[in-house]
Amino acid sequence: MHEPFKITLTATSVAARGACGATLPYVSAEGPAAPVPAENVLDWLDVEAEKRAEAGLVRRLRPRAAAAAELDLAGNDYLGLARDKRVAGAAAAAALKWGAGSTGSRLVTGSTELHAELEQELARFCGAQAALVFSSGFTANLGAVTTLSGRESAIVTDSSIHASLIEGCRLSRADIAAVAHNDPSAVGHALRTRRHQRALVVTDSVFSVDGDKADLTALVDVCRDTGAALLVDDAHGLGVLGDGGRGAVHEAGLTSAPDVVTTVTLSKSLGAQGGAVLGPRRVIRHLTETARSFIFDTALAPASTAAALTALRVLIEEPQRAERAREITATMADRFTAAGLPASTPEAAVLAVRAPSPDDAVGWAARCAERGVRVGCFRPPSVPDGISRLRLTANAGLSDSDVERAIEVIIETAPSFAS
Ligand SMILES: Cc1ncc(COP(=O)(O)O)c(C=O)c1O
Repeated sequence: MHEPFKITLTATSVAARGACGATLPYVSAEGPAAPVPAENVLDWLDVEAEKRAEAGLVRRLRPRAAAAAELDLAGNDYLGLARDKRVAGAAAAAALKWGAGSTGSRLVTGSTELHAELEQELARFCGAQAALVFSSGFTANLGAVTTLSGRESAIVTDSSIHASLIEGCRLSRADIAAVAHNDPSAVGHALRTRRHQRALVVTDSVFSVDGDKADLTALVDVCRDTGAALLVDDAHGLGVLGDGGRGAVHEAGLTSAPDVVTTVTLSKSLGAQGGAVLGPRRVIRHLTETARSFIFDTALAPASTAAALTALRVLIEEPQRAERAREITATMADRFTAAGLPASTPEAAVLAVRAPSPDDAVGWAARCAERGVRVGCFRPPSVPDGISRLRLTANAGLSDSDVERAIEVIIETAPSFAS
């Protein structure tokens, strides 16, 4: 969609507001910048690339073969549904029936009966009043954070929230306080000392790198004591936690609460693509009418919508997949700890094992790949605490012998932890 967009720049009034609300001067006191030859305008990109290389932070795309030869402990296909024939078949059938793309924003030409069915079934499954499907979990988070806050709001976030929530906070123009990880009393303090009446607390339910859970019950209590709403990103809880995989917010008894909003992604447990916001009907109406990442974004493709809908139905019929995913991460954590590796305590389908340095993490992941086990490798700045880790995920489709082989490879290829 297009919207009329006009900026008027004047020397005296132009100012850009930084992420934390600081006002930055736009007009230089030294006069206009000097012209640079066109071929040198982007030279600073190479300087930045060198700095990343020196810090051991180079990132490279590694194409994956269609028929995966490796054991995959790096993906987020927690329930093993991405390659399920029912799910992939539904995607193919929907593309043939509805077309490869959605053709437009949901509000123009993009909304199909598949989107409506997915929203109804997702809301019913999770126990929410209503749901709204977005083209990704990232855009769902941008939409939810920005529309539930704004200039006249305070946002209090856990310091380990996902990048998409951080971007939402930056776009919101709210007063932002990022407090210590998993510390509801710090959230309470930030809420009690805020400037604005309107407030939103933002957290992941299961933190994406270490796989630990937020204390949603304590968070909702501090929100209610101080008049704030709670936004929970349940990307890693849906399909894995709660009754039949209904997610962490359902497990905490909060999916029908009037002051709690949940975001999910369709790209992890449901093996598809896309995202959604679930919550009270008036929240969904507000998002539909005001969320820029919904209004000005092409609707989720029919194939992805049908795949997510079918995966949801499979999850309802086969709830044991959720249990199997949790069992795999618990087994891995026990075995790594017994072998003296610094593993996190997983509470869903994600587990992290710390590495001594970014280079050790990269080398460890490469040795695992050489032996046929693909693992995730997280280094700063993806991890704000500066600790490099392997990130391992469960896939309910792995057999016991697959899991055993992966554990052996990870232990045998571990770097030395002696400092
Ligand atoms: C916690 C969390 N929220 C949101 C997202 C974004 O979801 P999507 O990949 O569907 O855009 C991710 C994906 O990595 C995530 O881990």
